[in-house]
Amino acid sequence: MILALLLQHTVQATLDLGNPGVKVSPSLYGLMTEEINYSYDGGLYAELIRNRAFLDDTKQPRHWSAAGDGSTITLEKAGPTTARPYSLKVKGAAANEGFWGFPIRSNNSYRLSLYVKADSKTNLIASLESRDGSKVYAKTQVSGVDSAWRKVSAVLKAGSVSAPTADARFVLRATSLETFSLAQVSLFPPTYNKNKTVFRSDLVEKMQALKPTFLRFPGGNYLEGNTLKDYFPWEKTLGPIEDRPGHMSPWGYRSTDGMGLAEFLQWCEAINSKPVLGVYAGYALNGDVIKPGPELDKFVQYALDEIEYIVGAPTTKWGAQRVRDGHPKPYPLEYVEIGNEDGFDKSGSYPARYTVFYRAIKSKYPQLSIISSTGGTDWLGMKYPIKDSPLEVVDEHYYSTAWEMMTMANKYDSFDRKGPKVFVGEWAAHTGPAPWEAGAKGPTSDMRSAIGDAAFMTGMERNSDHVVMSCYAPLFVRVDPGGMQWKLNLVGYNTLDTFGSPSYYAQTMFAQNLGDRVLPLSLSGVATQQEGGKTLPGCFASATIDSKTGTVFIKLVNALDSEHTFNFNTKGGSLAATGTLTTITGPNDAVNSIAEPKKIFPSTKKVAVGSLGLSIKVPGNSVNVFQIKSVR
Ligand code: AHR
Repeated sequence: MILALLLQHTVQATLDLGNPGVKVSPSLYGLMTEEINYSYDGGLYAELIRNRAFLDDTKQPRHWSAAGDGSTITLEKAGPTTARPYSLKVKGAAANEGFWGFPIRSNNSYRLSLYVKADSKTNLIASLESRDGSKVYAKTQVSGVDSAWRKVSAVLKAGSVSAPTADARFVLRATSLETFSLAQVSLFPPTYNKNKTVFRSDLVEKMQALKPTFLRFPGGNYLEGNTLKDYFPWEKTLGPIEDRPGHMSPWGYRSTDGMGLAEFLQWCEAINSKPVLGVYAGYALNGDVIKPGPELDKFVQYALDEIEYIVGAPTTKWGAQRVRDGHPKPYPLEYVEIGNEDGFDKSGSYPARYTVFYRAIKSKYPQLSIISSTGGTDWLGMKYPIKDSPLEVVDEHYYSTAWEMMTMANKYDSFDRKGPKVFVGEWAAHTGPAPWEAGAKGPTSDMRSAIGDAAFMTGMERNSDHVVMSCYAPLFVRVDPGGMQWKLNLVGYNTLDTFGSPSYYAQTMFAQNLGDRVLPLSLSGVATQQEGGKTLPGCFASATIDSKTGTVFIKLVNALDSEHTFNFNTKGGSLAATGTLTTITGPNDAVNSIAEPKKIFPSTKKVAVGSLGLSIKVPGNSVNVFQIKSVR
């Protein structure tokens, strides 16, 4: 008892309701995405057949096997379309293992399409069955197969299963040991918005709860790729899936490009966000660059065409293509980023490349804001590399320890407002080794990281006149063996389930409770914390108000183990009688997982304002958001 009292801290907080400060950027919180950790194939893009086009490996039919006695499969260099030069010759039956199995749920319908031919007229049976073949969950006949390549489709309807299972494979079987050929085999489960999209619903819902205002795509490293040939080929990602050749991602596997430019834009609509487009700017991860000149000019035009696809009138070439792809209205594009992390370009060519892209984009689309990918003055120890081109917004990336993120909680308080605006386009706190180092923890963040994230977010909120946008990275991770390339991520999933990390819940709490003006808030008597001989405050805070409704949002981050009481002194107005306090708390090393998705999960309670004013008690190791109406 005495120890508990000794460990309690009281903080005096002064909140000025009468003098709202800077405006909160309406696009402060968004999302960043790229194909990493099986984010699209095997993730949000709901395709269930793995290696559907037989392009993952041109030597062997990976993820396919012969199914049953006497069956054989052979990869053949012959296919139905130019973009589908390979096919699978099957005698008897072939099985696909899916992306770590298939999600079998009661009464689900699975939409099958494939290119198929056989030596003579025949029918095949398509089925979803347990891996050992002992249970059949759904099956249908594929009819009309003959000696010419034909695209056929069918639906497999599952019956009732006692519990959802991923222990399943997909099988195409001839009635006897006949021979047939397959190309471009696709199977979709029910998808978000009544099958009108290609997205996994649970992941869309997870993103919606983050209330993202924008989606930064297509990367990340995925934008540029490992070599000058591996950039995101946006125009080859449009149209029917069988016409998309796919390409190698820098994260060690091939992308089908089922998640193409049109799908990214549909994704924005599904989560009510605006697109933030990264355009390829002539730099590859191996360090090769395309210097300004005729070769780079082709990519400048490529970027202009891509922008035209997104915002062009239906009378333009690429605007018309967007209409043909089913979206007559232009999308609300406001920001275009030139490249990704071009600060790594040791040749120093970025200023010149940036200038060429900047001028071309601005002269055709003056309404767009341009983002430089090279970060701020101290990102990766670099100076602004650009001297003679206007910098409007710079993209800063921080993959730092929770402690370092807390040291950055005040970073922007003294930032030069005359300089370019800041987009924190990738950031995440970690504990232990960095995500790219041996021994890094993962696949998602722990509670201490969420506290580091939240402390950093209080600083972004307070300065969101200048920090106009931010997004955590990476967003998604497939938690099955072999599914993860980056160790620390926001949302994890397997074939059936998904979970948010503590950082995910800290972000939902911040983003769901954001006003439009910053309120001055000062703390005194805050206990300190020490690490490596250095000292930092143990608590971090920010406050905003929704000026239309008068709702006040106070973020309180307690990085210490002990409970804290915040006694508020309010000026320039008063508060309603009660508010609500939403909290996540737990031991520093607590994580969520498929098995325990809600170990760290927000809980909400009412807090009454007492006769002595507002007093909020928060637990040790916690992120808190207090919401209350103000009266002026
Ligand atoms: O988020 C993972 C990677 O980190 C991104 O692809 C890249 O931009 C950064 O280096």
